Order: sequence, then structure tokens, then C-alpha cells
Amino acid sequence: MSSFSLRRECNSVGPADNEKSIVVCGWVYRYRDQGGVLFVDLRDRSGLVQVVFDLAVDAELHKKANALRGEDVILVTGKVRLRDKNAINPKLKTGEIEIVAHELELLSKAKPSPIPLDEHDGEASEELRLEYRFLDLRRKPMQEALRVRHEFIRGVRNFLDNEGFWEVETPILNKSTPEGARDFLVPSRLNAGEFYALPQSPQIFKQLLMVAGSEKYYQIARCFRDEDLRKDRQPEFTQIDIEMSFVDKDMVMALNERLIASACKAAFGVEIDGKPQRMTYHDAMELYGNDKPDIRFGMTLTELGDWAAMTEFKVFKGAAETGRLKALCVPGGAAKVSRKDIDDLTQWVMQDYKAKGLAWVKVGEGGALESLITKFLPEAAQAELVKRTGAKPGDIIFFAGDRADIVFATLSALRLRLAEKLGMIPDTYKALWVVDFPLFDWDHETNSLLSVHHPFTAPVPEDAHLVKEAGKKESLTAEEQKALLAVRSNAYDFVLNGVEIGGGSIRIHESELQQAIFRLLKISDEEAQSRFGFLLKGLEFGAPPHGGIAFGVDRVLMLGLKKASIRDVMAFPKTQKGTCLMSGAPSLVDEKQLRELYLKSTAKAR
Ligand code: AMO
Ligand code: AMP
Repeated sequence: MSSFSLRRECNSVGPADNEKSIVVCGWVYRYRDQGGVLFVDLRDRSGLVQVVFDLAVDAELHKKANALRGEDVILVTGKVRLRDKNAINPKLKTGEIEIVAHELELLSKAKPSPIPLDEHDGEASEELRLEYRFLDLRRKPMQEALRVRHEFIRGVRNFLDNEGFWEVETPILNKSTPEGARDFLVPSRLNAGEFYALPQSPQIFKQLLMVAGSEKYYQIARCFRDEDLRKDRQPEFTQIDIEMSFVDKDMVMALNERLIASACKAAFGVEIDGKPQRMTYHDAMELYGNDKPDIRFGMTLTELGDWAAMTEFKVFKGAAETGRLKALCVPGGAAKVSRKDIDDLTQWVMQDYKAKGLAWVKVGEGGALESLITKFLPEAAQAELVKRTGAKPGDIIFFAGDRADIVFATLSALRLRLAEKLGMIPDTYKALWVVDFPLFDWDHETNSLLSVHHPFTAPVPEDAHLVKEAGKKESLTAEEQKALLAVRSNAYDFVLNGVEIGGGSIRIHESELQQAIFRLLKISDEEAQSRFGFLLKGLEFGAPPHGGIAFGVDRVLMLGLKKASIRDVMAFPKTQKGTCLMSGAPSLVDEKQLRELYLKSTAKAR
């Protein structure tokens, strides 16, 4: 029997083990020699324990221990003893005891670590941390992230198992599933010139599982999307993917509220603040300028379109006529937002959000408005402005007048930035559902309709006839197009603290409606057959009404663990350029491999 079978986890040793002889294994974390007594903090996954090598007791062993360096892997056999009162470390779970070594085995020698392995983030550059990820993952915050991630997924599995869901795996080598990103392609060696696509999501397969009679499906699914990366986007990421038959929107939403509440509780010990409210897409945009509003604080936008006529300011009048005019009133902002801040904010919104400027008005202590533009605001306009925004003395009001999308983007970004600066965001978890999204959007580039979600999303039942009829027509009048843009989808997004963590919909289960949508999206019958023929065929063979959702596991963890990026909750993430600094992926392959795949590269070597 090896000594490993006797091993105790470092953190499990305590005063109850006094006088016992035990075995511990792990990495040398810290060491210090105090007059012939060498103290080693030994670390394993569970935590730290102090091991003592005493020159006076065993000179040979002390000499061997003295050669140890940080991150060497050792096995120690020793006797547990209680520490002297003044040597107790209350910060350490094992701080009341230490292990007096009588045997030491060096299991593996370590080179000096190129990154500090202490408990704090941000001491080494992220590049170096990613290159040496196997070391970075030894650090406590990263170990904690992996553990909590495991707990979260376990919580999800437990919950869904209790609700009668089956976990079913769907293929990774696929035909393309459209979710709005580019596909990653995999060439087929056995089928010359043909390619698989990696799944952007298991969407079509989970719908076919409903046709197949599975009724309640889930999968902890890996998804792949070739898109521009940001702090909350990776090229491969994990979804909790769910689909259910014989359900309506309310049933899907109710189940998933309970799922997220229970998994968050299990993993982070976090309670979501209140029952998630429902907000229409329209209200989310008008009140927050954003379809994923952070509702932990107020500071909603004020409509000023019709107010513009009361002013003599050309900028406002023009914007209200051709676009929109809205305002953001920042409580207490008059003193806290300086002229320099305003200049910086103006630069920022002009550069990042294409705003044409950022007009502002401060409310003085006496209630009088102060600004360069007050000269354009007659008394009645000033009074009405104060009334509408609810402004109090000491507040500042910002204005955006522009094309609707610019107004929304500018004011929603400004709202978040100022709330952060002024410390207005409470440390809670607040969720909501955003519903009644439009089914279609207008693509200015191709001059055609575009799915807001994916093309399998059903319209709300009241609007379905509009879609079916329009789908039969050869071409649409401007009027008909406008009516289609107003059609609402039977979709829902789940938003937590201003991050979209999940989205789903009730699906189309009739092939007639599905074909009408493809036609409206300018996907020809031939193209629809060649891309999604297998789904359309399935819908003709007895498809139950069904719907579902997918949550981004990485995003939920980022929020639950309060990390700045989803990279910090993934074991082996990629950089913003989609590379893995540890393995060097992606990389060139040799000519022979390309030939076997019928490929020829036109790229020059990097
Ligand atoms: P959707 O595209 O909205 O829906 O994705 C669902 C959730 O997945 C997460 N997510 C991402 N996380 C990290 N990196 C990415 N690149 C990334 N892209 C998406 C988000 C998002 O809310 N098949 C549909 C779901 C359905 O209709 O059932 C789908 O994939 O948290
Ligand atoms: P101007 O008349 O260009 O000197 O602008 C007067 C003020 O209005 C400045 O503070 C500008 O930043 C601001 N401003 C200009 N255009 C807009 C706009 N489209 N929306 C909001 N503020 C604007």
C-alpha cells in the first residue's frame, strides 16, 4: 500500500488529531527558517497546513527540507501537535496545530514560478497568467472559481433532474445553426470539399428532440461562435440549454426563475432580490435606453420629444423632428460632475456612441437652471423640464438629441457610467425578464428583414396571421413592411444586474409559419431546404408546441463571483484575438494534413 492511501487533506487536520501520525501531500507554498527550525506552509486543493523541520531533532531531515523551494511537490509523514498559544494563527483553519515532520519525500521538483501564486489577482500580466495557466489556476481565487463553477453546474443538474429533465448530448460536428455569428468550420476528410460547422447552439437538435418526444431536455452545452470578442464573449462558451414540450411562455419563465434562483443559491449563497419583474422591450428602451437594463438603481430617461417645441434651441428642435430627444437627470450631479468631467464625457459619447454633443443643465441650489443653453430655454420650458425630469436643486440633466439608436446608446452608457462614479449601484442581485421584442429588425445593408432572435422564434399568437399572410406575398408594400416590424416575438431574455444571461422563446411548430418566416427573411425555399430541411421535415411529422431557453454559464459565474471578465471563470479561456497563449492554438498545420482535407492555404505564415 502506498503512503498516498493514508493521505489527509491539509485543511482537514485539526486539534482533534493531536499526537496522531499522519501523511500530507502538496506544494511548498511558503517557507522560512527561524534559528534552525524550518517552517513550511504546505498547500493542497483544500488549503494550508504548517509543517516543522527541527534541526535539533533530526539534522539530516532538516538539511533535506532546507533544499526545498516554492512549488516543489512533497509528501510529509509527521506527528500533529498543538501550537504554543502565541503561535496560533486565527486566520488559518489549521492555525491551531502544526505537523512535526519525521519523513520527507520529494515527489517533484519545480522551477521558480514566473507568476506570483498568492491570493490576489492582477499581480502578473494577464498574458503571462494565460501562458502559465496551469500555475495561475493554483491560485486561490482561480481554484475558488473552478469550485464554484462546479457547484453551480451541479446545482443546475440537481434542479433539472428533480423536475424530470433528461440530459441529452447533441452533435458537435454539425450543419450550421444560425445564431447570428459566423460559424467555425471543420473540413471533412472523407467527403472531399465538404465542411461541418461547430454548433453556435444546439437549437435545431433540441427542437428535433421535442419532435422526437423527449418532452423535457437539457444539456450543459458547449457552443462555438466566431465573433468579435469582449469581456463577456468567448469563441467557445457553455450554455445551460433547455427545451420543453406542451408549455407556454409563462411556464418556461417560471421554471427558469426557480432554476437560476436555486443554482445561484447553491453556488454563490446569493439570493436574487425579489421576483424578477417583466418589462417590455419598448419600456426597457424608453426608460433605460437598453434592452438589458440594470434595474438595481433608478435614474430612468425622460422623454422630451414634444418639449423641444417649447425651446428656441435648433439642435433640440431638429433632433425631435427627425429623431428623438431624451434626457437623463443625475441626482446630486451638479457638484459631483465637474466641467472637466463634462468635457471628458462629451468627448467619450461623441467618439464611442457617435453623439453630436452632450448638452447639459445644472439645477442651482435656489432651483435656477445654469447652463450655456439656458438662453434658449424660455421660462415655461425650464419649468416643464424640471417637472418632467423630477430634477431637484443640486442635480444635473444631460440631453441627447439624435437618431433613436444614438440617443439610446448614449444615454444608457452615460447612466451606467455616472451611477458607477457616484456610487449609486447597490451590491445586490436584481433580475428581470425583457419580453415582447420585435420579431424582425431592418437590415440597412441588405435592405431586408432580419430575425432579432433566431428564425425559429414564434411571433406572439395574436400576430401570427400577419406573418403567415405576408409570407405568401411576392413583394411587400411599405405599409406591410412597417406592420411586420411591429410584430412582437414570443421571446424572453433574462437579465441580471444589466447583463443578458439567458434568452429563449416559444418556437414555431408549424412548417407553414416557419416557411413564411424564411421567405420574409429572403431565405429561398431551396436555401431553406438545404440549410434547415431536416428541421422543416421534422415539423411535418407531428411536432408538439414547444419552447425553451439557454443561459450563459460563464456570464452567470462572472456576476456571481464579481469578476471583470468571463475569462476569470473559465479554466482555459482564449484571448481577445481568439488565441490560446498556453497551447499556441490556432496554429499552422503541415502540407500533408491540408492535402488530406482537400485544402490549400492562401495565408502567409504569421
Ligand atoms: P443566445 O444566442 O441568446 O440564444 O445565447 C444564450 C446565452 O448564451 C450566452 N452567450 C455567450 N456567452 C459567452 N460568450 C458568447 N460568445 C456568448 N454568446 C451567447 C449569453 C446568452 O444569453 N439557441 C438560443 C437559445 C434559445 O432560444 O433557447 C441561443 O443560443 O448569456
Ligand atoms: P452647439 O450649439 O453645437 O454649440 O452645442 C451647444 C451644446 O449642445 C453643447 O453642449 C453640445 O455638446 C450640445 N449638443 C450639440 N448637439 C447635440 C445633440 N445632438 N444632442 C445633445 N446635445 C448636443
